[in-house]
Amino acid sequence: MNEKLLVAQKLLSFIPDMTAEDIAAMLEYPADKKMGDLALPCFKLSKILRKAPPMIADSLKEGLERDESCKGIFDNVQSVNGYLNFFISKGSLAKDLEDIALNEKYGSSEKGKGKTIVIDYSSPNVAKPFHIGHLRSTVIGQSIKNLHKFCGYDCVGVNHLGDWGTQFGKLIVAYKKWGSRDRIENGGIDALVEIYVKFHEEAEKDPSLDDEARAAFTAMENGDEECLSLWKWFIEISINEYKKTYALIGADFESWNGESFYFDKTERVVKELREKRLLTVDDGAEIVKLDDYGMPPCLILKSDGSTIYATRDIAAAIYRKENYNFEKCIYVTSAGQSLHFAQFFKVIELMGYEWAKDMVHVPFGTVSIEGAKLATRTGNVVLLDDIFRTATAKTLEIINQKNPDLENKDEVASAVGVGAVVFHDLSNNRIKDVNFMWDEVLNFDGNTGPYVQYTYARCCGVLEKVGEELLKEDADGYIIDTEAEANLVKTLKLFPDKVESARKELEPSFVARYLLDVCADFNRFYHDCPVLKCENEAVKKTRIALVKATSIVLKNGLTLIGLKTPKNI
Ligand code: ARG
Repeated sequence: MNEKLLVAQKLLSFIPDMTAEDIAAMLEYPADKKMGDLALPCFKLSKILRKAPPMIADSLKEGLERDESCKGIFDNVQSVNGYLNFFISKGSLAKDLEDIALNEKYGSSEKGKGKTIVIDYSSPNVAKPFHIGHLRSTVIGQSIKNLHKFCGYDCVGVNHLGDWGTQFGKLIVAYKKWGSRDRIENGGIDALVEIYVKFHEEAEKDPSLDDEARAAFTAMENGDEECLSLWKWFIEISINEYKKTYALIGADFESWNGESFYFDKTERVVKELREKRLLTVDDGAEIVKLDDYGMPPCLILKSDGSTIYATRDIAAAIYRKENYNFEKCIYVTSAGQSLHFAQFFKVIELMGYEWAKDMVHVPFGTVSIEGAKLATRTGNVVLLDDIFRTATAKTLEIINQKNPDLENKDEVASAVGVGAVVFHDLSNNRIKDVNFMWDEVLNFDGNTGPYVQYTYARCCGVLEKVGEELLKEDADGYIIDTEAEANLVKTLKLFPDKVESARKELEPSFVARYLLDVCADFNRFYHDCPVLKCENEAVKKTRIALVKATSIVLKNGLTLIGLKTPKNI
């Protein structure tokens, strides 16, 4: 049973008119283990019990101490400054340890059974390179999706590609004037960017190029086959490249419906907005006014009648509701787009869709590298591929020093190098800006991805030596008596709770930082307590189970945040 519920049930008879679930929801895990394994902040009860928090804590403590059924569950219950702190007995930890060590899926749940979430993430703009800013959307989005899947939800990950808009008119013109099939086939996105940049340079001198580009885009909108086939080809080239990056970071999508998919679905949106009298003509364009909500208007139709990003987003949201009947539709983009989301969510609400409340924007901060901000326009674009390549090469150097005989060195170097970048990205709250310093990212001894992966490999090394048969035995003979062992079990027990709060708060960093705690506790245990050399059979068995339980939590946790888990580093 969930231990919060277990404690809550013991408290039930002392607190009137509350269910065990209500009480369980009030219990907290203290940040400092000296304050117990669980704590009840009694101020939350002062209204119901009409007493000051310290008095409540005192009387609950007395009550529990008189209760025979609490023996064996708590080693100690303390009343400290209005908090009731519970120290759960080591005897019950043995049972907990067994539950973890025998359950490869430990941490998962069925909470989301029968519910669907849609998650829109990564969503790069086609024919533009994938830079480190997109990495954030991809890794945060993928891990939010993994967390939901792990909790039993059906998930539809959508890559809402930026694959429609006037920029494709420019690319078509540029390609016809300066491009060659060979050059683009071989050069990929880089070659597309090259002709796109050239277009802008030339258009400064000769503005008629802009008219040509506009005409090419209109031709696309009108179904011109030549233009559309070029456009499709540009997309294909881009997607092929993106897929290589996705494979490195374990990103996958259930749908690749980009903006162009909604081109023929915007008409219905415009019609509906008009019927619902939400549109206002403004300087030839049509907008939805949002002054009443403290926001600038949401542009729906430009003065030339064409739709924009927001129009397509409204169409996409309606499409997703109708096709997936989501419980939540989550969008992961930089905080720079917060206004866009607030605006179109509001428009959907004004259209009368009650599910507007289920639309969630998940913003994140910016990325800089060694202190330098990234900007597409100034040329300081740091490409993700380069970053992964550097990370992998640097990791290989370290492996060559530390473990030169390792098998599959290249594969491991890529898993660890890429993992280092991803972990670094996910280890702070997502809204914080990220500064990427190589020394910090790749430090095998610091709070990094490599450190967690290395700790996992260490567990695997021990388990390989013992063979698994010792693990199958039941917990009756487990002996947990050192502080280091008890602490490790207590930390491992927090995993399901961390998963649930990371899922709920859409904050993968909770898992990343938790894994660092697990590693710290594991390494302390591993330092203090011999495992293979332990002479007492029962103690040895317990320690092996601890290693196994740790390996399960690390593996599940790393997988949730998109890191690979090599068994040997
Ligand atoms: N393509 C956009 C960009 O790179 C992100 C799209 C996010 N998703 C959405 N439905 N608007 O900025």
